[in-house]
Amino acid sequence: MNERADAGFSPAWREWRAGVDLDEYETRWDRLAAGGQHVHGEAEFIAALAPSSVLDAGCGMGRVGIELARRSIDVAGVDLDADLLERARRRAPCLEWIECDLADVAISRVFDVVALAGNVLPFVAVDRRAAVVANCARHLAPGGRLVMGAGLRPGWPTVAELDDWCGGAGLRLVERYAGWLREPWSDTGRANYAVSVHARRPPVVGETRLRPLRLAAGTTRVLRLGDEELLKQAE
Ligand SMILES: C[S@@+](CC[C@H](N)C(=O)[O-])C[C@H]1O[C@@H](n2cnc3c(N)ncnc32)[C@H](O)[C@@H]1O
Repeated sequence: MNERADAGFSPAWREWRAGVDLDEYETRWDRLAAGGQHVHGEAEFIAALAPSSVLDAGCGMGRVGIELARRSIDVAGVDLDADLLERARRRAPCLEWIECDLADVAISRVFDVVALAGNVLPFVAVDRRAAVVANCARHLAPGGRLVMGAGLRPGWPTVAELDDWCGGAGLRLVERYAGWLREPWSDTGRANYAVSVHARRPPVVGETRLRPLRLAAGTTRVLRLGDEELLKQAE
């Protein structure tokens, strides 16, 4: 990993990477799948949302994205780890794999689902997590959904933080489960995993009929419901 890429990862990711044999890691997943284990819970959850296109954000070696593509979904993958991406490219050369920090990536199209599947956010550098969520939200098509699944461990993002970052990006929570098999979520604070689905907030009622207003100070702002008095003063 080069130094620039390194800044995008959390210390936990650097630690995991330093101790893992990627060949062994890749074959372990293949062996599990070949042995009939259920290894595609994430892909099944995402496919059930019936998207035409998915951005596999933090795709690693393409485990989730490749399975979605196999189900005829248009997939692109982004990851900052060149070694894992090389494996994704080898496993599915016809798919689009982009090496970039999720906080910075700019793809010239939008997706029905942007998925951060399998502990992506906890492995993003702490100071970039909000930016990653905001940038993922930017890549959502109208009506699109952001799907995130991760463990809830000390020092890892909490669901409250996640909802805050999403709120800042104009998204609201629409579904939450305790696992990819849609295990019921309960807010007792005892859950050790959360799968969350966020979508763009509907526009504020009346927002679309209001128009940009040049204020006395020379600035322009878009009026929202409740600003009618201001509008009358300007007329
Ligand atoms: C636990 S792996 C999950 C990989 C894949 N989603 C899966 O489920 O198999 C976490 C992934 O997040 C990626 N990642 C962490 N920080 C990132 C960042 N700032 N930008 C892009 N990818 C990042 C890592 O490189 C890694 O591939």
